[in-house]
Amino acid sequence: MKGVILAGGMGSRLDPMTRVTNKHLLPVYDKPMIYYPIECLVNAGITDIMVVTGGNKAGDFLELLGDGRELGVSGLHYTYQKGAGGIAHALGLTKEFVDGDKIVVILGDNIIEKNIRKPVADFFTQRKGAKILLKEVPDPQRFGVADVDDDGKVLSIVEKPSQPKSNLAVVGIYMFDNQIFDIISTLKPSDRGELEITDVNNTYIDQGTMTADILDGWWTDAGTIESWNRANRLIEKTGANNE
Ligand code: DAU
Repeated sequence: MKGVILAGGMGSRLDPMTRVTNKHLLPVYDKPMIYYPIECLVNAGITDIMVVTGGNKAGDFLELLGDGRELGVSGLHYTYQKGAGGIAHALGLTKEFVDGDKIVVILGDNIIEKNIRKPVADFFTQRKGAKILLKEVPDPQRFGVADVDDDGKVLSIVEKPSQPKSNLAVVGIYMFDNQIFDIISTLKPSDRGELEITDVNNTYIDQGTMTADILDGWWTDAGTIESWNRANRLIEKTGANNE
């Protein structure tokens, strides 16, 4: 399996810091933000990784990460997203790199306490489809939110609902089989002008091939001032990407 880290976008919710650097290069506690998703993938045994970045500081990723070996990456690849066409648009740029493999995708501003070894191993043996991770949150309106039945089966996902059907947010860690690029090619931009990862996930749900687990340990994004501060506090307390 291959890994993809999405680190494009404008980072406008962290303005003015993101006027002079890419959001994912900002420090979170004692490391640049991008280290956390890289460590998360490496911890799960995924060491062939592509980083999608964007904006005008893209060269800084190369300067910071180099060939990735310091972080345990065996092959670090980069590509560039012009503009901010959405998470699914950024993912679509990795087609040649992925080359028919299964993938684990992590949003570059998502940080977790523990590891994803078990769900990744389960997805490795899943015959087809996709897997998402869910986590209970106090503020589901900020996220993709899952509607689940009594058996925990995901019925649908709504992106940033004003009236969420549950408090189960969709974590920014996604596992997809090789249908992913065909699905992305059918997407239309949403009202906010982006190709939405939630539309991708709903396609797999409609197909009946989506599985979902509850993520173990804490999870946060670091894309707003509040969540960036929370990420710093949580990491100070427990560390991230623990065994
Ligand atoms: O954090 C989890 C949430 O992330 C999910 O629950 C939502 O379903 C999902 O849509 C996403 O929501 P956000 O609105 O918070 O995503 P944001 O626009 O902040 O983008 C998250 C990361 O994705 C960002 O750190 C970099 C990457 N990205 C985003 C965009 C819009 C790209 O690489 N390219 C892009 O064009």
